[in-house]
Amino acid sequence: MSLLSIRNLQTEFRGPAGIARAVDGVSFDVNPGEIFGIVGESGCGKSATCRSILRLFAGATARIVGGEVILDGSGDLAAMREADLARVRGRDVAFIFQDPLTALNPTMRIGKQVAEIIRRHRQVSRSAARAAALELLRDVHIPSPERRLDAYPHELSGGLRQRVVIAMALALAPRLIIADEPTTALDVTVQDQILRLLKERRDRNGTSIIFITHDLGVVSQVCDRMAVMYAGRVVETGTVRDVLDRPSHPYTRALLDALPGQGGRDRDLVPIEGSPPGLIAPPPGCRFAPRCPFAGPACTQGMAPPLHPRPGATADHLDACILTEVPHAPA
Ligand SMILES: Nc1ncnc2c1ncn2[C@@H]1O[C@H](COP(=O)(O)OP(=O)(O)OP(=O)(O)O)[C@@H](O)[C@H]1O
Ligand SMILES: [Mg+2]
Repeated sequence: MSLLSIRNLQTEFRGPAGIARAVDGVSFDVNPGEIFGIVGESGCGKSATCRSILRLFAGATARIVGGEVILDGSGDLAAMREADLARVRGRDVAFIFQDPLTALNPTMRIGKQVAEIIRRHRQVSRSAARAAALELLRDVHIPSPERRLDAYPHELSGGLRQRVVIAMALALAPRLIIADEPTTALDVTVQDQILRLLKERRDRNGTSIIFITHDLGVVSQVCDRMAVMYAGRVVETGTVRDVLDRPSHPYTRALLDALPGQGGRDRDLVPIEGSPPGLIAPPPGCRFAPRCPFAGPACTQGMAPPLHPRPGATADHLDACILTEVPHAPA
């Protein structure tokens, strides 16, 4: 049984130029205790997909217009009243944003910020909440946590701030954590520590994690299963080993071929030519077809192709390419 099952999710942004369908028929499942990676070029809808899960949209122009977000035991979050969804946020599903500063209140000591999350959802005394906050700072390996409780966010480094944000996400022991590029603003060693921290939490508590990143190396290092998104849709999904070692969609292949020195070979970066289509009036057929070296006439007609398994592939390895044989791009 999946912990989270997203079915045919559609989310629109209303703007002066028209309505952009940033999420257009996205489906995937996240299993209990699994780290699920979402990758794809900037603007493909990774954040919009994940914000749709909790309806955490910045601004009022975003709207879910179709599909389901089934959280095991809670029902369809997409159909839930705002007041009920507010209880799910933090308690069952927590969100970690890219920039820790936007998630922290600059005028409040960090111990109090962590404690307040606990007090908002649970009937506990001020001192018990403070003790729990201290424990959480310890859990995320913040050095001298007793001293840090009374610090303000600006007194901490970026890495420590992101640890505080993670402590806040862990505060109510959620079953699912959504981490939207939680390490991109951090230097490489700190990135590594944060990744280890999230993995540790999964290993110890069986917490599921959705991990959005641009970095295929990170996906290969920490994720179990993954989805590759392109222009508002999932074009390939499966285990990380299937998708990265046996990619079947031309877009996934192009992404992998664009990696420098992949597979131990010294290869020059191969940028993918062209740019993704606009989301206000996307072209018919496969949205990657205009950039795809293998596209034929059938690729640019009709509906965008749905995800399907390929003959001989693992049952949960799906892609959305209609070509039966996709040759590897020349190395
Ligand atoms: N508040 C908004 N108003 C209008 N359009 C938006 C808004 N937020 C996002 N979009 C559009 O929705 C699409 C998906 O954006 P989203 O932020 O989900 O991309 P992303 O995959 O997370 O990209 P990145 O890797 O840069 O974070 C983009 O084309 C973007 O222009
Ligand atoms: Mg994003």
